Amino acid sequence: MRPREAANGRRGLLLRETFIGLVSAAVFVVLFYLWGEEMFPGTAGRMGGIFPFVGAVALTLAVALFLTEWFGFARREVSKVRLAARDFLFLCLLSLILMFLAKGVVEVLPSVPNINRAMPARLYVYLIPLPAFAMIVRILLNSEVAIIFTVAASVLSAAAAGGRWPALLFLLLSGTAGASRSGRIQDRYRMLMVGVLASPICAAGAIALELAFHGSAGIMWAGIFAGINVLAAGPIALALLPVAEYAFGYASDIRLMELAGTGHPLLKRLMIEAPGTFHHSVVVGTLAESGASTIHANPLLCRVAALFHDVGKVTKPQYFSENQAGFENVHDALSPGMSRVVIISHVKEGLRLAKEHRLGDRIAEIIAQHHGTSFLYFFLDKAQPQIQERRDSEETFRYPGPRPRTREAAIIMLADSVEAASRSLKDPSQAELDESVMRIVNRAYMDGQLNECDMTCDMTLRDLHAVSQAFMKVLSAVLHARVDYPESGKGPLSQVP
Ligand SMILES: [Fe+2]
Ligand SMILES: [Fe+2]
Repeated sequence: MRPREAANGRRGLLLRETFIGLVSAAVFVVLFYLWGEEMFPGTAGRMGGIFPFVGAVALTLAVALFLTEWFGFARREVSKVRLAARDFLFLCLLSLILMFLAKGVVEVLPSVPNINRAMPARLYVYLIPLPAFAMIVRILLNSEVAIIFTVAASVLSAAAAGGRWPALLFLLLSGTAGASRSGRIQDRYRMLMVGVLASPICAAGAIALELAFHGSAGIMWAGIFAGINVLAAGPIALALLPVAEYAFGYASDIRLMELAGTGHPLLKRLMIEAPGTFHHSVVVGTLAESGASTIHANPLLCRVAALFHDVGKVTKPQYFSENQAGFENVHDALSPGMSRVVIISHVKEGLRLAKEHRLGDRIAEIIAQHHGTSFLYFFLDKAQPQIQERRDSEETFRYPGPRPRTREAAIIMLADSVEAASRSLKDPSQAELDESVMRIVNRAYMDGQLNECDMTCDMTLRDLHAVSQAFMKVLSAVLHARVDYPESGKGPLSQVP
């Protein structure tokens, strides 16, 4: 990306973040204005009596400062917490919704007819639905963010519910119990099982807390409420996930499973209009999935993102070598500079289609990063005479980037190049395949394409070696499993009776 474009991009992002922040603050000022006095009697309430708006603004400011400092600290200091403005807004929104829910559960439930009025209101804190929210954060973001969210949301919810120590400890326990069991959830059944597994632990925790702080009178209801709360976390999270995915553009593993089938309209289009690219994407997916499995990255994300990584080629399929079999090469009639523009545009087109079809941020990021800032080697070679003559820069023959920032994006970038190189080998031996894989991986490493990945996702040299070995095995299986069917009719089919 050129410096001016980068500066414009940064300015746009800053403006958007400021806008999002101001709108959220305004929304919560209104909410605190309406309910702040009830939520925190003695704070907003006292101010509210004199000048209601000042109390609401002060309370919003205090909560916003706490969340900004907390999540900001995590973003700066915890290596796996990469919070974009959207994530920050999502977490703040969940924390504040939970805060109001906590107040609602403790205030509203005891006044519902047919509910045992003699039951102390403090017992209702065991019904605050933090486990469901922590599960959602773990599924859509990651475990580090889920822990940080659980702490912030527990503190705010416990304060809002006036539950003090037992409430705070229970919320921390139930949130971490839900989040810790929600990693790599790929189907609805496993999501429901999270509640089943965590429920007895949280019920036991609630009973112990009730016994320690208030005696034995309410332990039965504490256990029942905590058990029901955590049991319901799976269905609640399941119902809210699609809403969060739609509103914020996330893609959970469950969503990835839905996209993995070839029934998606974009994949159907790719299959019909650019069959060569579709086949290439399937092989890249197999390679990347295998590479990801060996280093405990996310194989599902690799397979699905690989299916879509070149989807931008669908608008001009004939310009890409994998779709040119039997046709004239259209680049023969174009200058290398023009060819470069058309080839590079497939990344931008891919991002546009990903946005249009709501594929989610994880797939979009991989589409943007799958070539990094690598050279278009074929057209760079073709342009060498002009480059020498006009003293042009070779750098214009690079993709605009960004370079891969996650292990999954790095694996797909390598798998993509490895598959493309293997296509040019005619009946290769195992040694030739191995040499081709090593050459591609070394070239990407030496060109600095994996440098940004090192900082954020720990792609070590050992990982690179393991991924290369996995590629060699898969390539060997894919290429050597092809069976020739000679035209003479003496192939295997002719022997079928
Ligand atoms: Fe590509
Ligand atoms: Fe590709």
